[in-house]
Amino acid sequence: MAAVNEFHDRMLSLGLARVSEAAAIACANLIGRGDEKAADQAAVDAMRTQLNLLDIAGVVVIGEGERDEAPMLYIGEEVGTGKGPAVDIALDPLEGTTLTAKDMPNALAVIAMGPRGSMLHAPDTYMEKLAIGPGYKPGTVTLAMSPAERVSALAAAKGCSTTDITVCVLERPRHQEMIAEIRGTGAAIRLITDGDVAGVMHCAEPEKTGIDMYMGQGGAPEGVLAAAALKCMGGQMYGKLVFRNDDERARAKKAGITNLDRVYTRDDLVTGDVIFSATGVTDGNLVPGVRRSPGWVEVETILMRSKTGSVRRMSYRNPTR
Ligand code: FBP
Repeated sequence: MAAVNEFHDRMLSLGLARVSEAAAIACANLIGRGDEKAADQAAVDAMRTQLNLLDIAGVVVIGEGERDEAPMLYIGEEVGTGKGPAVDIALDPLEGTTLTAKDMPNALAVIAMGPRGSMLHAPDTYMEKLAIGPGYKPGTVTLAMSPAERVSALAAAKGCSTTDITVCVLERPRHQEMIAEIRGTGAAIRLITDGDVAGVMHCAEPEKTGIDMYMGQGGAPEGVLAAAALKCMGGQMYGKLVFRNDDERARAKKAGITNLDRVYTRDDLVTGDVIFSATGVTDGNLVPGVRRSPGWVEVETILMRSKTGSVRRMSYRNPTR
């Protein structure tokens, strides 16, 4: 018989899907209502309630913020019944609060779980990110390359012209130069206003999403979640923490990071086998968003395990009265 305290990812994965489902469903009536805070709060409450039903001794390592900033799902919060395996949890109950408030694409409820010590305790700073999908030699593109060099290298590896490459980038003033350089290669850019976990995940299924590469600075916690997703789906990712001031450097040191200049690979960000579950909140290329009708609500979840590379898509319809 399976030992109770081992990390049985197969058994736990379906429970994890219920956790992201609950967060997405809780947002159903807040999609497109212009209230980011209410949507986020609903997702946090529902995710925490559902997570606490799981037989795990969980600790939140990527969460809603430091304990003094976030009352729920803060970094270090113990979650689950405490009866099962010791696991680390990375979560974002609502990745894309503004996307949800405006009913724009690709908002997700996301959660990843792995054995204790399996995920980087990333501080709440930015991270320079670079990701491509599966099937390329390690190091096909690197953070040391310029944006234009990355486009050329990926086009050469894919056996196509640079004009056939599409790069996903967060639309921010800090990315203006990078965008100009990428455009100079002839590559296309899919600009997103938010939601770089989905942005990175899109690289793993380019035939479906049309995106070959992700690059630019976004949240470091989201970087760990994206790495967990890519570890399951396949694909390469690099991340380097970006510090704007001493306070951010201090946050990194507090999180246990000693080398502030380190370039992390996907498997440095997520060192052990993980389960990853994302439920669509608004419509996206990977999963559709919440569907509401009088009397029911329906959501779709992508549930994956890195140990096997299995990707399961499931829809869940629940009566609302
Ligand atoms: P929220 O869900 O907290 O609104 O974050 C969305 C997001 O777009 C992330 O996907 C991304 O990593 C980060 O914000 C980018 O931060 P910033 O808006 O400061 O550029």
